[in-house]
Amino acid sequence: MHTRIETIDPACPDLRVISEAGRILREGGLVAFPTETVYGLGGDALNPEASDKIYGAKGRPSDNPLIVHIADREALGGIVREIPPKALALADAFWPGPLTMIFGKNGRVPLNTTGGLDTVAVRMPSHPAARELIRRSTGYIAAPSANVSGRPSPTKAIHVIEDLRGRVEMILDGGPVGIGLESTIVDFSERIPTVLRPGYISVEMLEEVIGTARVDRGLMAEDSSARPKAPGMKYRHYAPRAELVIVEGEESRVVEAVNGWIQEKESRNMHCGVIATDETAPLYRVGAVVSMGPRGDEEELARHLFDVLRRFDSMDVACIYSESFYTPRMGQAIMNRLLKAAGHRVVQV
Ligand code: TXA
Ligand code: MG
Repeated sequence: MHTRIETIDPACPDLRVISEAGRILREGGLVAFPTETVYGLGGDALNPEASDKIYGAKGRPSDNPLIVHIADREALGGIVREIPPKALALADAFWPGPLTMIFGKNGRVPLNTTGGLDTVAVRMPSHPAARELIRRSTGYIAAPSANVSGRPSPTKAIHVIEDLRGRVEMILDGGPVGIGLESTIVDFSERIPTVLRPGYISVEMLEEVIGTARVDRGLMAEDSSARPKAPGMKYRHYAPRAELVIVEGEESRVVEAVNGWIQEKESRNMHCGVIATDETAPLYRVGAVVSMGPRGDEEELARHLFDVLRRFDSMDVACIYSESFYTPRMGQAIMNRLLKAAGHRVVQV
C-alpha cells in the first residue's frame, strides 16, 4: 500500500488535508495522526472492518481493546449506556486532554473495536489536528498508539513512518507531541475509581476532583497473578532491541556501578548505552550516553522517554543501563513505561 505523508501545522492544520484524511477514515481506511500524548493509528470506531485493519497494521492481539476518540461531549452519549457522575466531573475538569475513561458501551460500538468487551474506552484529545480530524470523520476514531505492537509509542512522525509506512493510507506529520506518554486511563466499574494506566494526569489530580481514587494493583507489579484490568497492560511493551536494566540507588553509586559494568563489557567488545539526565550524563566515562533532560523537569523527561528508547535501536548496543525517574507527579507514569521496557529488570546498588 502507498502511504501518503502530509506535513501539517499542529496548531492550525490545513483543512483540505484534514478533510481528505477524514474521507479516508469514513471509507474505512487508516490514518495516523498526532495527539497531545502520542501519535494515534486511527480508523472508524463504528466500522468493524476498520478496527480489524488497525489490529492487522499494528500486529496487535485482538483481545486488546482500542480507545475511541471524540471531539465533543455530545458524542459520548452516542456510544455509552450511562455516564457515572464522577466521570462527568472528570470530563469537566480534564477534557479535552490526556484522560481516557471506561464506560459500558451501547450497540453502536462493534465488539471488534473493544476487543470483545462490553465496555468502551473514550478520550477527547485536545490536539487541534486530532479534533478537526474527528469532526471530519464519523465523529468516532478508534486509535491505539501508532507503533507496531511491542515497540515504544511514537512521539514523532518519523517513529510512525518507521513502523507503519506501507500499512496505512496516510500519516499526518504534526511534529513532536507535547506530553509523550499515553493518556491516564480511569475505570468506574468498582466502588472506588481505579487508574488502569498512569499518565500526565496523576491520581492526586483525579482525587482533587472526585475524592478517593486508587491505582490498579496489577499495574506496577511484575507478576501476572495481579492481572491488570486494562488488557493491554499485560503485554510486554516499549521494549528496545537491546537488553535494558534499570539501576537504582544513590546517584554517585549508580554512576560508579554503571561505569564499571560498561568498562567490563567493552573489554569484551560489547557496546552499551546509558539513559542519564543532563546532570549525570558527563559523569559516565564509557558507553553511548543519552540524556532524558534535566532531572528537575519531569515533563521534559516524560516527553523524551520513548524517543530515547527508540534511538538505541539504531545504535549497535547489546545492553542499556538506565537511571530511574521517580519524579513527584509523573514519576509513576514514567516508571510504569520504563519498567515494562526493561521487562522489570531492576538492580539496586
Ligand atoms: O494517549 C493515548 O491514550 C493514545 C492516543 C493515541 O490517544 N492511545 C493509546 O492507545 O495509548 P493504546 O491502544 O496504545 O492503549 C490503550 C489501552 C490498552 O492498554 C487497552 O488495554 C486499554 O487502553 N483499554 C482500551 N479499552 C479498554 C476497556 N474497555 N477496558 C479496559 N482497558 C481498556
Ligand atoms: Mg499502545
